[in-house]
Amino acid sequence: MQDQVSLTRDLIRYRETVVDKSSINVGLLGWGTVGTGVSKILLNQSNLILQNTGLQLKLIKIAKRTLPDSRPGVQLPADCLTNSPAEVVENPEIDIVVELMGGIDDARRLVTQAIRNGKHIVTANKALLAEHGFELFQLAAKHNVSLNFEGSTAGGIPIIKTLRESFAANRIHAIYGIINGTCNYILTEMHESEVDFAEVLKDAQAKGYAEADPTFDVEGIDAAHKLTLLTSLAYGFAIPMEQVYIEGITQISQKEIQYARELGYVIKLLAIAKLNADRVEVRVHPTMLPTRSMLANVGGAFNAICVIGDAVGPTLFYGQGAGEMPTASAVVADIIDAAKSISGRLQSQVPRGWLSESQTDISLCPIDHIETRYYVRLVVLDQPGVLAQISSILGQYRISIASVIQKERHEVDTASIVIVTHKAVEKNMQLAIQEIDKLAVVRGASQLIRIEEEVDF
Ligand code: HSE
Repeated sequence: MQDQVSLTRDLIRYRETVVDKSSINVGLLGWGTVGTGVSKILLNQSNLILQNTGLQLKLIKIAKRTLPDSRPGVQLPADCLTNSPAEVVENPEIDIVVELMGGIDDARRLVTQAIRNGKHIVTANKALLAEHGFELFQLAAKHNVSLNFEGSTAGGIPIIKTLRESFAANRIHAIYGIINGTCNYILTEMHESEVDFAEVLKDAQAKGYAEADPTFDVEGIDAAHKLTLLTSLAYGFAIPMEQVYIEGITQISQKEIQYARELGYVIKLLAIAKLNADRVEVRVHPTMLPTRSMLANVGGAFNAICVIGDAVGPTLFYGQGAGEMPTASAVVADIIDAAKSISGRLQSQVPRGWLSESQTDISLCPIDHIETRYYVRLVVLDQPGVLAQISSILGQYRISIASVIQKERHEVDTASIVIVTHKAVEKNMQLAIQEIDKLAVVRGASQLIRIEEEVDF
């Protein structure tokens, strides 16, 4: 019987007969957290990659702003580090440029130059693609190079490839994503510890789960960037960021968390792309999910994405949405795909959302037109006729009440009223709330959270 070593040798020899034998050279722009992970994998796992793919990948240059620099556990080849990005993008020996520097302007300029120089591109930069994806994919197609971006969304979860390839035979009914680990960590802690947002955020920052400036995460912008990429892949047109409805988690208080629990829900920041007749809703906002649903039980900094296709039905992808090694895993998978195309085994292709002539009958559904159930919490004077005034306004806007809870507050003469509605049109709901908030018996602005009952698997 052949031993394991000789079997592996035979396998490599077999692959070398069908795949270009020469090594494929990789250059990195940026050597932060994810860049470090990528360099570890390329240097330490090159044999595994060769065995799995028949491809010999070689990391030959890393450009980073400040030198000297080193990382524990990473032994770089001599002369690998430079502080000149030109030594990567202009280097004739480099086949694949991996952009991991973040930011938009410099990344856009260097990626553009690298594409013009005929380099295949791998990036994890969701903001770059959300803002300039159309231009960059067009340019890459013109120069017949690939532009891969698995690391941009949900870290190690292979959701980009899944949408592009595995679900290509499906009409996508909906995508529901928990795609911001920071928000998921904060909301999970709020559910578990009964502590308010500001305090949990401080603790998350101390533990490294939230950035020093958490605005992009807690205001829902990071999730919206990622959602535009998923939506473009699923529905075939590039969504401008300004057309995505975005609401962050900063207004969620312990009150909402506790009422949600009482009603059988968990609050999550959900990124939603949902087919609504021939339009698609694209929105990011705090959402109540039934406690028993799988998405409601995705805790901590983890990510999960539910994709519902007409053929495949509901599917759920779960994993680490950020961090050095999970994101590096996705980036290296992209490098491998690019290397395959260099070896002539794949055609480089513009993903459908960025084709110049988009062939789709789907357009964007404005937030005003969505229909969903709502949770509304009001603080009102505790006196006769108050509920009647509120329900009369809801009735005028054709909003039907599903349940009501009232809690007395003895210290002041007010009460909290929580109303859960049946499905209603957003525009009607907003108009009704505006009128309700103006009632003399209502104290302060009401809290409104949308409910997604269909997320129940
Ligand atoms: N800041 C992001 C998050 C990770 O909290 O999920 C990078 O996209």
